Amino acid sequence: MNTRKDCRVSPEICDIFCMDSVIQFKNAAAIFNHDRRQTGLIMASTGLSAMFGPATFCAVTGGSRGLGRSIAVQLAGRLGEGSRLVLTGRSLQGLQETKRQVEEGCPNQLEVKLVTGDMEDTTAYPALFFDIFADTQPGDFKNALMIHNAGTVGDVSKRAAEHSDPQILNKYYATNLTSVIALTAKFMEVFPCSDVRRTVVNISSGAAIEPLAHHALYCSGKAARNMFFKVMAEEEPDVRVLSYSPGPLDTDMLQTVRSCGDKKIEDRFNAMESKGLILSPDHSAKHMCTLLDEDKFKSGAFLDVFDRFSL
Ligand SMILES: NC(=O)c1ccc[n+]([C@@H]2O[C@H](COP(=O)([O-])OP(=O)(O)OC[C@H]3O[C@@H](n4cnc5c(N)ncnc54)[C@H](OP(=O)(O)O)[C@@H]3O)[C@@H](O)[C@H]2O)c1
Repeated sequence: MNTRKDCRVSPEICDIFCMDSVIQFKNAAAIFNHDRRQTGLIMASTGLSAMFGPATFCAVTGGSRGLGRSIAVQLAGRLGEGSRLVLTGRSLQGLQETKRQVEEGCPNQLEVKLVTGDMEDTTAYPALFFDIFADTQPGDFKNALMIHNAGTVGDVSKRAAEHSDPQILNKYYATNLTSVIALTAKFMEVFPCSDVRRTVVNISSGAAIEPLAHHALYCSGKAARNMFFKVMAEEEPDVRVLSYSPGPLDTDMLQTVRSCGDKKIEDRFNAMESKGLILSPDHSAKHMCTLLDEDKFKSGAFLDVFDRFSL
């Protein structure tokens, strides 16, 4: 059996296979140390970092709940005057609640724009992407940040060999892969030159590199995204590219993963929960902001909330 020490996969996957209690304890200590370190870094970076100080255009997909909401709230407190935060999702109600939380916690004047749309529907992309970038002039911003967070796990009742319906497959990959690639292209079209500091974040998962039963679509979609952004990082040296794995989070998505019908997966996530190893999305969003703020990652890197990987 692998141990966490020699395991180069994310904690949520590693925990499935490494159930040694000492390892779990070390993991809990790592989380604690992270919290302490983050608090210090965030305090030190309040306000005027290169990443977050100047006027920034920032779009977050899947901003209506879960990690996307936390990212929006955490980012908003760091964005400088004149920034614009664009949040996308299908649920207007969810987006409005995120906007309320952003405005409640944000000390700066920040324009929050909500754009509803379904990433499953590729025919709607031109209108959706137009709305995301409407009235956006590169000269208005010093930074441009695109965060691809929206995601689904697909039909977790099926095993890999049972995904026979091409229409369902196309819809899955439209939401989780095609939209990301096409929206990145639009982002690059709107911000074509290096006068604006450009950053693209791919919200990834340990599932991108480690197989998880009942999650063939999810694993393959995340793996494809990781490689897409590695290639982009090679091709676009002026763009900062990060694939960030947020860890196991207490969100709707994790509920779906846990109810996949595979007893081993259910038991192991239950065990993680009882050991306090499921993270809050706020915690993980803060860590992502710290990584961006520190700006030490190699472009194209795959990092996670536990500072693992550098692939
Ligand atoms: N939760 C975890 O343990 C975990 C672990 C590793 C990685 N991640 C990654 O973190 C990201 C966020 O996950 P989460 O846990 O916050 O998930 P979540 O709570 O299920 O939220 C998913 C977000 O994606 C949006 N979305 C889903 N389908 C969409 C569609 N067809 N069109 C447009 N937007 C859509 C949802 O908005 P609407 O419903 O309003 O459309 C929602 O805002 C995902 O990329 C996920 O893979 C999560």
